[in-house]
Amino acid sequence: MSEPTVIAHISDLHCGSRYHIPSLAKRVIDELNLLCPDIVVVTGDLTDMGFRHEFEAAHSLIERIACNRRVVLLGNHDARNVGDEHFTELFGSRSTELAYRDAHILGIDSSEPDLDTGRVGRERYTWIEERFAKSTDGFKVLAMHHHLVPVPGTGRERNIVHDAGDLLRVLANNGVDLVLCGHKHVPNVWRLEDMLIVNAGTCCTHRLRGKVRPCYNVIEIREDSHVRVLLKEPYVDAQVVADFHDVNKRYCRWRENEGPPAGGYELLGEGEPE
Ligand SMILES: [Fe+2]
Repeated sequence: MSEPTVIAHISDLHCGSRYHIPSLAKRVIDELNLLCPDIVVVTGDLTDMGFRHEFEAAHSLIERIACNRRVVLLGNHDARNVGDEHFTELFGSRSTELAYRDAHILGIDSSEPDLDTGRVGRERYTWIEERFAKSTDGFKVLAMHHHLVPVPGTGRERNIVHDAGDLLRVLANNGVDLVLCGHKHVPNVWRLEDMLIVNAGTCCTHRLRGKVRPCYNVIEIREDSHVRVLLKEPYVDAQVVADFHDVNKRYCRWRENEGPPAGGYELLGEGEPE
């Protein structure tokens, strides 16, 4: 069997926030550089307020990831204070496309200026359809910041993309295999029809819900659309949380959330002053 295509999916760095933990960000990058993924997807909230210095900090972090195939997206926090201008200067287009081996990834900006809510919008459905029409046999991935379906353990539901229903139909009708989202800071995997919808937690902040820990995802795409999703907490062995195959489709058991490690994350580095 050939080697899988490996996507590292990180999200919600919140550079500039008092909740951002620099030592944890460094650890994540060190781990990614050991992993050597084929593709890195960053699903938004690189910054906390969309300020220039926050984007520069995020840019220098992401530049240290030794992988040139990157999809980096805006989040709602990045769209504050006209942060999109800094984003495009440092990272390029707000919507992006990347193809590698069988994987065909479209990255979409789901943010709106100075709003926490998100949308994709009818005007972009045709673009999605046209781009994915080019990869009939490929493994189709859509990445965006806002979540597409509710995520368990996140409290009152809010900020799903406004056009979630219509977008789901577009993605299902066009054979999308995988959707990558961030925003809620809670990891999750849902399967809807033949599509996996995967959320990443926050990889390097204290902005957590309940007992969820900072984490990111590693996704392995194998032959015949066999997909494994691994949850990776910094300093902890990866845990397979989903393993889907054409024949044998199954979720793996989620580990009970255990809360922060003894001593808390402050032990991992200096953090930032409150
Ligand atoms: Fe966030």
